[in-house]
Amino acid sequence: MAVENPGYRKKFYIESYGCAMNFSDSEIVASILNDNGFGATRNFEEADLVLLNTCSIREKAEQTVRSRLHIFRQVKQSRPGMLIGVLGCMAERLKEKFLEEERLVDMVVGPDAYRTLPGLIGEAETGQKAVNVLLSREETYADISPVRLDSNGVAAFVSIMRGCNNMCSFCVVPFTRGRERSRDAVSIVRECRDLFHRGYREVTLLGQNVDSYYWMEEGGLPDASDTVVTFAGLLEKVASIDPSLRVRFSTSHPKDITDEVLYTIARHENICRYIHLPVQSGSTRILQLMNRTYTREWYLAKIDRIRSILPDCGLSTDIIAGFCSETDEDHRDSLTLMEYARYDMSYMFFYSERPGTLAARRYRDDIPEEAKRKRLDEIVKLQNRLSLESNRGDIGKTFEILIEGDSKKSAADWKGRSSQNKVVVFPKTDGSYQKGDYVRVKVVDCTGATLIGRALLH
Ligand code: 5AD
Ligand code: SF4
Repeated sequence: MAVENPGYRKKFYIESYGCAMNFSDSEIVASILNDNGFGATRNFEEADLVLLNTCSIREKAEQTVRSRLHIFRQVKQSRPGMLIGVLGCMAERLKEKFLEEERLVDMVVGPDAYRTLPGLIGEAETGQKAVNVLLSREETYADISPVRLDSNGVAAFVSIMRGCNNMCSFCVVPFTRGRERSRDAVSIVRECRDLFHRGYREVTLLGQNVDSYYWMEEGGLPDASDTVVTFAGLLEKVASIDPSLRVRFSTSHPKDITDEVLYTIARHENICRYIHLPVQSGSTRILQLMNRTYTREWYLAKIDRIRSILPDCGLSTDIIAGFCSETDEDHRDSLTLMEYARYDMSYMFFYSERPGTLAARRYRDDIPEEAKRKRLDEIVKLQNRLSLESNRGDIGKTFEILIEGDSKKSAADWKGRSSQNKVVVFPKTDGSYQKGDYVRVKVVDCTGATLIGRALLH
């Protein structure tokens, strides 16, 4: 954690699970806590306040959090003053269970209620159970400057919207994070500019569905008429801060990503050639049950469009194996779609029924676990092959790499990313560089997950 400042009255420890949005929220929480006398610590055993920012997306994520809570509970036995709080998506889902039934925690705070944390801590300190899981239609934390936790000082996440209105039938997010709302564009650009001036060289604009970003500045034009900022407009604004600030974004919904967005990427070299475009299934019938609102053909046409406007674009996806009623043929449709799209990377899951979702209410979770695992295994094997093929295809090519730090395997190598979001490592002895530098690297070898290269001298 970045801020271990002895000037604070008390110490907090925060652990984050799940998506990038949750990690980004923890940085907002850190900022609110810093303003209220709490400094961060990396060691939960010395913390006055232990927070878990939780994820509900699959059952396994919830189980992991539960086992962490039991560990914190044990520490609390020898330090009774310590407060334990659950934040994020599980707070929304399981507040009664955590507080009343299991008495696992002292505080439960939902994703739209972080401004009320100081008051809730006060309540919890007096022995009351402190809860706020109200969802909001407006909260975007626009004015709060996140405190960067665990940052490499080069790349940062910037939240641009919250919530989701899509109602994919498998997904708990619309219930745990509430309605979609976009953050004020002026504050987003200010935050990105500030990061750039502090030495950051990459921002990732975050939202559950960034392509539906929509913000209206009232009286923004000189004649006091309104200005509308769409996602393409926002990308343009952030990319214009400086050509040496890389811009990424996540996540896109295939139904909402527009040609305008693709052309905006094409116009700006510093908007990265990489799109994460969750497909979820390759079968039109399953896509309909999932309420994804596109067909297989429509998705494939979107891939063609991306490839024609951005020929060098990296692509990744999310895919679910074993959704309700999925047949072997539906599953094969997912495999053939993956082959067609030639994804560089995928996040692959088997279906996990979430209470309260449309699918849980409407459909039977009828694919046996064994079949789910077998299908997932086939998907993973295929993706491993596609990733290796994609990486092999890069051997001999040269990419501009932004250095993020030491390679995981060896401090003798730098690690960075290409515009296409591939991890590239190369020997430090190739030149004198530092974190945050751009370097041209020629790829000489690869694994399925990494490109191995040599820096070209200027
Ligand atoms: N079961 C399995 N995977 C899920 N995801 C969302 N909900 C579920 C679920 N109930 C996956 C989707 C989504 C990603 C963030 O998590 O693929 O895009
Ligand atoms: Fe969930 Fe679908 Fe919204 Fe993504 S777009 S958060 S999968 S409802």
